[in-house]
Amino acid sequence: MAALRVQPRPGNLPADTTSFVGRHQEIAAAKGLVSQARVVTLTGPGGVGKTRLALRVAHAVRRDFRDGVWLVELAELGDPSLLAATVAERLELRDQSFRAPIDIVTEYLAEREVLLVLDNCEHLVDDCARFTSAVVRACPRVRVLATGRQSLGVYGETVLPVPPLPTPDPDRPPPADALARYDSVRLFVERALIDWSHDLCSGPERLVRARASVFAGSFDLAAVEHVAGGDGVPPHGVPELVHSLVDKSILQREDHDGAARYRMLETLREYGEEQLTAAGDEGAVRRRHRDWYRDLITRAWPCWTIASPGRTSWASGTTAPGRCGPSPTSRPTTTWSGPSPPPGRRWASTRCSVTGRARPSCSKHSPG
Ligand SMILES: Nc1ncnc2c1ncn2[C@@H]1O[C@H](COP(=O)(O)OP(=O)(O)O)[C@@H](O)[C@H]1O
Ligand SMILES: [Mg+2]
Repeated sequence: MAALRVQPRPGNLPADTTSFVGRHQEIAAAKGLVSQARVVTLTGPGGVGKTRLALRVAHAVRRDFRDGVWLVELAELGDPSLLAATVAERLELRDQSFRAPIDIVTEYLAEREVLLVLDNCEHLVDDCARFTSAVVRACPRVRVLATGRQSLGVYGETVLPVPPLPTPDPDRPPPADALARYDSVRLFVERALIDWSHDLCSGPERLVRARASVFAGSFDLAAVEHVAGGDGVPPHGVPELVHSLVDKSILQREDHDGAARYRMLETLREYGEEQLTAAGDEGAVRRRHRDWYRDLITRAWPCWTIASPGRTSWASGTTAPGRCGPSPTSRPTTTWSGPSPPPGRRWASTRCSVTGRARPSCSKHSPG
């Protein structure tokens, strides 16, 4: 039985909304290589910028791949035997048979025009190499863009070493106005500004800011109160803290038909996630986030089964659902469900999503 994708869509690349510094030459070189080679691997030391570059390049070439660009993030995959299953899951394949995941993936990709981005292969080099070879052999129109510390060593691979961003010579520092021309300096200044904005916040504001980073998109006050309240944040204090974060331009307020929603710029959100991990309460916050949206979906379900003109606006968080539940005013942005569940379970787990466009559909999918 052929594997089915539940909701056809042309890829799963996250929106590339964070500011991106420099790398014009590397982007051009990588784009050129992706158009020529079946496998391109970006190599270099950790933190040099391989992942960001790969995502940038993937965005730039996405229209060249009729069946989409698919990102498979491998940093957290500990068990190499689950590599193919993880790819299948990222491709949102549903297969009820007991066939090996590699067969499911290669069969699905056999006739498709896809760019697979295997990100952070460093700890799984041999397995990624075997997987990539199998895909390249069986799927003539699939290309692979990999990132890692070293090449995969597979047939058809081209390696592009990613150098550090250029820095000024410390022995001969250029004049101050010339410093801004260095990409590394611009990146450093950007990070310093984010640090500075963090220093300007009170303790509870920092907590709300870090906890709000679990929302991948916009959220409303009810959701952030549930997710960010408690443990150092005074009960009922969240709305006021949210408003002061808006005043400090850390959160942005949007009005949707009179209902306020909030969001964080992606760079600030990334920083918030780092702070959340450092604070040690990431698991608890993500569980509250999961529970909030699981509840919302449970309450939403009866509405979805009753055709109603308010359904679309309800789902987008702008209309109360009337008799269908107690005023849910947010929609899920991510549906993560716990600290890195074992990928085997992820493959077996189902995920429900609520959007303004379709009925909730359940699909094999990893938590976001
Ligand atoms: N060109 C860039 N512009 C802006 N930020 C960057 C750039 N390159 C890297 N970064 C940031 O530096 C950090 C490390 O980059 P990453 O791509 O994860 O490195 P690697 O994959 O080589 O370990 C990330 O926070 C990333 O957002
Ligand atoms: Mg990386």
